[in-house]
Amino acid sequence: MGKVTKAVIPVAGLGTRFLPATKAMPKEMLPVVDKPVIQYVVEEAVEADVPHILMVTGRNKHAVENHFDRAFELETRLEQKGDSAKLNAVAESTELADIHYVRQGDALGLGHAVSKARAFVANEPFALLLGDEIVQGDESFLARMIAIAEKYRATVVALLEVPLSEVHKYGIATIEGFPAEDADVVRITSLVEKPAQETAPSRFAVVGRYVLQPEIFDVIDNLKPGVGGEIQLTDALNELSKNTEQEKPVLGVVLRGRRLDMGNQLTFLQATVELALERDDIGSDFREWLKEYSSKL
Ligand code: G1P
Repeated sequence: MGKVTKAVIPVAGLGTRFLPATKAMPKEMLPVVDKPVIQYVVEEAVEADVPHILMVTGRNKHAVENHFDRAFELETRLEQKGDSAKLNAVAESTELADIHYVRQGDALGLGHAVSKARAFVANEPFALLLGDEIVQGDESFLARMIAIAEKYRATVVALLEVPLSEVHKYGIATIEGFPAEDADVVRITSLVEKPAQETAPSRFAVVGRYVLQPEIFDVIDNLKPGVGGEIQLTDALNELSKNTEQEKPVLGVVLRGRRLDMGNQLTFLQATVELALERDDIGSDFREWLKEYSSKL
């Protein structure tokens, strides 16, 4: 199996949960303190040594493309002013990675978005990062997933145990022990998208990090619409996991590090507070204010 050098990030979603902020602006550009969410996600791929990135975009996503492109006028102004700190902040996202774009066209679901990456990915394994989540830790979790994918020639998904009351928001896995020295790895024998509490096979949820094999494309092409009438990636993974005879298993790696859910207002705010508290520049002032403020609650 080849080395994973490519990542796909779907960014075509409408972001309706954040209206009206996302009426004229992509949800991926919502700032966490002063950096858009999408930049954290690209940084995660780069940290895992995956420098070639394809974003599957849609209408109204030009701001995402502009963010990762040069901004000549702004850069020239900052250069003239000699403001190297701000200049670096502007240039950072441009120099981060090699980014490509393809339009999703019809919004037919996550599986459909992934299928748009076929020409870019060609015949190689690749990472898939969903932009509603940020995963951070002392070591790159995506790099860990890639190592497992390479070692076992496997399809790999990130798993997190969630409360039963939340299983309906996720792809949920049926798991069994994987006979290997890697204690954080399990074999997945089936997957179901957004089950009801009563029918959920476990509380192990797929969170938005995957390492996929190119075989996934043929499986997606043959899928019928699933939950919500959408072409579901989970259904394609379920197909692959059923075939336990195959030499490429579907494995789950239990998430290490922290997952920040940027997908709804409450968790977005919580993530913003966490990341703001860790900032070198404003962290300690913010902490003081927050303590005082919360003592009044
Ligand atoms: C998607 C996937 C789901 C996965 C989730 C992770 O759902 O379809 O299987 O568990 O991302 O965040 P979405 O959140 O896009 O509805």
